[in-house]
Amino acid sequence: MNPLTDLIRDEIVARGPISFARFMERALYEPGCGYYEIVRPVGRRGDFYTSVSVGPTFGELLGFQFAQWANGDALHLMEAGAHDGRLMADILQCLQNHWPELWPKLECTIVEPSPARRQVQAQTLAAFAGKIRWVSGLEEIPEGSIRGVIYSNELLDAMPVHRLGWDAATQAWFEWGVAWEAGRFAWRRLAVAELKAVRNETLQVSQAMREVLPDGFVTVACPRAADWWHAAARRLGRGTLLTLDYGLTSEEFFAPHRTSGTVRAYFQHQIADDVLGNVGEQDLTASVNFSVTQMMGELAGLATRALQTQEQFLMGVFQQTLARPDKFPEWTPERRRQFQTLAHPQHLGRSHHALVQSR
Ligand SMILES: C[S@@+](CC[C@H](N)C(=O)[O-])C[C@H]1O[C@@H](n2cnc3c(N)ncnc32)[C@H](O)[C@@H]1O
Repeated sequence: MNPLTDLIRDEIVARGPISFARFMERALYEPGCGYYEIVRPVGRRGDFYTSVSVGPTFGELLGFQFAQWANGDALHLMEAGAHDGRLMADILQCLQNHWPELWPKLECTIVEPSPARRQVQAQTLAAFAGKIRWVSGLEEIPEGSIRGVIYSNELLDAMPVHRLGWDAATQAWFEWGVAWEAGRFAWRRLAVAELKAVRNETLQVSQAMREVLPDGFVTVACPRAADWWHAAARRLGRGTLLTLDYGLTSEEFFAPHRTSGTVRAYFQHQIADDVLGNVGEQDLTASVNFSVTQMMGELAGLATRALQTQEQFLMGVFQQTLARPDKFPEWTPERRRQFQTLAHPQHLGRSHHALVQSR
């Protein structure tokens, strides 16, 4: 059995209830036993699908777009949340095959805090060994030093979130923590919120919304994601910061049907009922707040080029590939099938968005 339940329970017994952000951090990233520490398959055999697990077409489209953005200049690609390294492998394969003039001017970095995941990535990317270096965090990258593209797919949604409840009487947020009760984890209102760690702007609620927000309405805030994006933006000297993920604008978080927030647990492709159960064996995730993310990039001096659906973003790339068929693999029926899954409104096309910012 995964030892995480015991480890987290011991912390709660010693210190009292912990924030959900702390619970999620340990459940996903505890060295040796967190959910993401054991690199599991993504796709049919795993707990969740991503655009990467649909097949190589997603990476090929990104590779093509990155080469177009480079416009003949040297290109530094930096990925975070690379997981098993599949996306970077698909991108590099496309660039090696179709952009030979760019290949000698290309360098790659993966930001990966986990030694276990770094090892799996190195195996997947063995064919490109000389091209890639690894760093364990953004702080190892000098500010302004990246000239190229910093990109990620479904990175920010995997960062630990705070779970907040609305107290209509005092018109203020309180924080939901995790306690240990009757042999299981349970939600408990924290007496002292960690909320001070949450940037005010992630919780801005208009006066009109304050009047109508029902008592107990739940939302999430992810200062970790906001800070990560800001730090990444500052690393960019020239080029583009791109993420693809599922998420909402600040306003959408307060839609009436979202009374219980956006934290979800996935186990074998099913949404699991208990976010606090099956610790270390199920994926935990929460929708990205794209308004906050966009603002953090702009605060670091980036200009927003697009915040659009994945469908719109990939359609734009697709059109460009038609104009330059020598620079992209043939649009075989299999590639077209993958593209449909990536771009179709009822698949990943509308649930996922692309945020494109540049300097
Ligand atoms: C949902 S998975 C997405 C994997 C892959 N990008 C894909 O699309 O298939 C999220 C990944 O982000 C990683 N991650 C979370 N926080 C990170 C951070 N601060 N730096 C680098 N990777 C991180 C997790 O370990 C996990 O591998």
